[in-house]
Amino acid sequence: MVRDDGKEQKAEFVMLREVLEGLRKEQKSLPSKYFYDERGSELFEMICEQEEYYPTNTEIDIMQTDISEISERIGSGVELIEFGSGSSIKTRLLLDHLDHPVKYIPVDISEEFLMKASEKISLEYPDLTVNPVAADYTRRFTLPKRNGHSTKRVIYFPGSTIGNFLPERASAFLKTHASLLKPGGGMLIGVDRKKSKERLEAAYNDSAGVTAQFNKNLLLRINRELAGTFDLTCFKHKAFYNEAEGRIEMHLVSTKNQDVTVAGEVFHFEAGETIHTENSYKYTPVEVKELFSEQYRFEEMWTDPEDLFGVYYFSVSDGERE
Ligand code: AVI
Repeated sequence: MVRDDGKEQKAEFVMLREVLEGLRKEQKSLPSKYFYDERGSELFEMICEQEEYYPTNTEIDIMQTDISEISERIGSGVELIEFGSGSSIKTRLLLDHLDHPVKYIPVDISEEFLMKASEKISLEYPDLTVNPVAADYTRRFTLPKRNGHSTKRVIYFPGSTIGNFLPERASAFLKTHASLLKPGGGMLIGVDRKKSKERLEAAYNDSAGVTAQFNKNLLLRINRELAGTFDLTCFKHKAFYNEAEGRIEMHLVSTKNQDVTVAGEVFHFEAGETIHTENSYKYTPVEVKELFSEQYRFEEMWTDPEDLFGVYYFSVSDGERE
């Protein structure tokens, strides 16, 4: 396994700094990437199984229906780089249908998750070189050397995770990664589409309350890892579609006036005050193309009969490789 620590500060210090910074703001906020500790990842998998949470199943349906076209578009002999640990049905669908992929490189920040998923893939695909990279793919990182100088690289970024970035960060992220793909590579990406407020809000307020648990788990994590004193019975889950911004917002609402301590620092909450924990942007196909307008060329989009979700392939515009 390749570990890309770079010159980064230790993860715990970064988390402490980012959590404190978020809680000191006028509109308190916490970075959504911290949802995914072990319990959070389990809860996220449970969310994907909820009736109301349509993105996962819809994306799988699209992939199943259009896998021949998608594989043809990607082409033969590619290095497939997946952002995320690659434990999904969608990864296997691609690996089963791609024409002689030469290498599979899952990239994930959680080393444990990555190791488990990569071992399983290696066992299931003994002829495939699996080369996991433990790195934060939201930042620039180093990839293992290409097999051949001109081997085509394709990034697979499923699940509409791009929707959890602010749009300007999403564009910057795509630009940064274009250099990994030159020459001739591309990106296959799943992006959730805009739709009715009712449908969207139901997906983030499932009736079994799994999304609520997922949201609150962030406070449990802070209690455990950063000596927090959040009382989970005094915070409620809230998710709504902010139509003007085109995003679902998740918040945790304080149900009373209270003080909470994190790493020795005291934070006051008024009753009704919220911590903004996540944005999940929804994009029309035109908006997706805008996000990719620098350095990429739109090739094809696949969608479902209800236009809920889009799977897109963009090729990188060639030019100087960094
Ligand atoms: C991972 N990400 C795309 C999910 C989403 O829909 O934004 C995270 C999530 N948050 C609540 N439910 C699911």
